[in-house]
Formats: sequence, structure tokens, C-alpha cells
Amino acid sequence: MIRFEDVTFAYEKGKPVLSAVSFEIGKGETVGLIGANGAGKSTVMKLLLGLAGPGAGAGSGSGAGNTKNTGSGRILVEGIEVLPKNLPQIRRKLGFVLQNSDNQMFMPTVFEDMMFGLLNYGMSRMEAERRVDEVLQDLGQEKLKYLYNHKISGGEKRMAAVATVLAMDPEVLLMDEPTSALDPYNRRIIIRTIGALKQTKIITSHDLDMIYDTCGRVILLSDGKIAADGPAEDILMDKKLLEANRMELPLRFATCV
Ligand SMILES: Nc1ncnc2c1ncn2[C@@H]1O[C@H](COP(=O)(O)OP(=O)(O)O)[C@@H](O)[C@H]1O
Ligand SMILES: [Mg+2]
Repeated sequence: MIRFEDVTFAYEKGKPVLSAVSFEIGKGETVGLIGANGAGKSTVMKLLLGLAGPGAGAGSGSGAGNTKNTGSGRILVEGIEVLPKNLPQIRRKLGFVLQNSDNQMFMPTVFEDMMFGLLNYGMSRMEAERRVDEVLQDLGQEKLKYLYNHKISGGEKRMAAVATVLAMDPEVLLMDEPTSALDPYNRRIIIRTIGALKQTKIITSHDLDMIYDTCGRVILLSDGKIAADGPAEDILMDKKLLEANRMELPLRFATCV
């Protein structure tokens, strides 16, 4: 479903952010992408979405792109390479919650934001409204519907971004720090929601308890390289490995002394 083939990438020449990253994620897998601040997690997401890399930010497929970006290797989504000319096709498959959800809201209210994407994909108004209500209800977020995007809290925005993405029912879900800024109640809702979705998912987080609850597999990034890739239990219970990479055991495995 998703393939990174020997991907090396730098935002600025001479400062590699990812080095020879290769992995493959199968349909229906839920993978936790973990690593210290600056390890390259968000960059992996951005490259998948074509928000960094060749042509990103240029607004055209001229190939000139952001000339500062340098990179090599290939990234494929269901066999289609992430290249400017393929982005519309690829983005239709991917739903994403960015680390900063502020950049994801365009309309005045949560309701209009959720409707926008659905109407754009050709759903009728009635169908779209039914879908919006259904998703908000599933997430227990009915109260968000008519709130103004510029007035809601960080956590509410995060839930609204998640609802907006889920409404589109994408084949692959990319969630960058989905539980950051959430209260324990909404964090629990996110964990339950992720658990119930059959889609292929990549989730980044510093909340390793959440990763343990939701992901069968973990990829650990360290300074832009894959330091480990394997079953979540193995990696998340490996105190030495986590500490060597500036992380700590999930709270449930941290024993009190
Ligand atoms: N737009 C950018 N321009 C230049 N450097 C960047 C940019 N975005 C991120 N970086 C750098 O790339 C590295 C990896 O960042 P990022 O992928 O956001 O890490 P993470 O999400 O794991 O915290 C960091 O050193 C960061 O400073
Ligand atoms: Mg990040």
C-alpha cells in the first residue's frame, strides 16, 4: 500500500533529514512512527502527501519545485509514485491530520469545513449533511458542529480535524500527533476510533501508550534513519532502545521504584 524505497531527503542541501529510509506498509496495517523531536516523522508524512519533496510549494508540475529540496529514492502509494503529476490521484486516497490543525481549516465553521470536502467529491448536500452528522455522533462531538473555527480550543480543533478526515473515508489515514492537546476523555475517543477503523494508518506520536493501544507495528526513527521496525510490544518494551533514542517507556511499562 505504501512503500518508501531508499528515500533520502534534505530541506537544505547538505543537511539530510531522512537518510536511506525504506519500509513497506501493507493494506490494513496500523503503524506507529515514533522518534524524538526532529527525528523526521512529520517529514515522512509530508513527503507522502507531496507537501515536501519534488515540486512541493511550486504549485505546478514543472519539476522546478522547491529548488532547495534535494532527495533521492522513490515513494509509492498503491504503486503510484508520489510525483507532482500524480498528487491529485494520491491525495484522494490519503486522509491526514497535520501536526498543526490550524493549517487545515479553511471555512468559518466546523460544519462547513466538513461539508466542503464531501461536496467537492460530488456528494449531494443531503447526503453530505447526513455523513457529517453520523461522524460527529460516532465521535461524540455533536457540539462542535456550529462552532466557529477561530473560536474553538486546540483540542476541539484537533477533534474537528479528525472528524473532517474521517468523513471522507480515505483508504489511508495519516495522523501526525493526533492526541496532542487533547484531554484524557477525547484522547480515549481517538484511541477507540483508531482501533475501530479498518483503514491503513500511520500515526506519529510521543504518546507511546496511545501507540501501544493502537498500533501493531512500530517504526522508530532516529536522526532520519530507521533505528528499529517491528512488533509494537518488542519496541515499546525495550527500555534501552527507547532511552538510546531519547524516548521513555510507555507509562504502563514504567515500574515505580
Ligand atoms: N520546512 C523545513 N525547512 C527546513 N528544515 C526543516 C523543515 N521542516 C523540518 N525541518 C527540519 O527537519 C528535521 C525533521 O523535522 P520533522 O520531520 O518535523 O521532525 P519530527 O516530526 O520527527 O519532530 C528537523 O531538524 C527540522 O528542523
Ligand atoms: Mg513532527
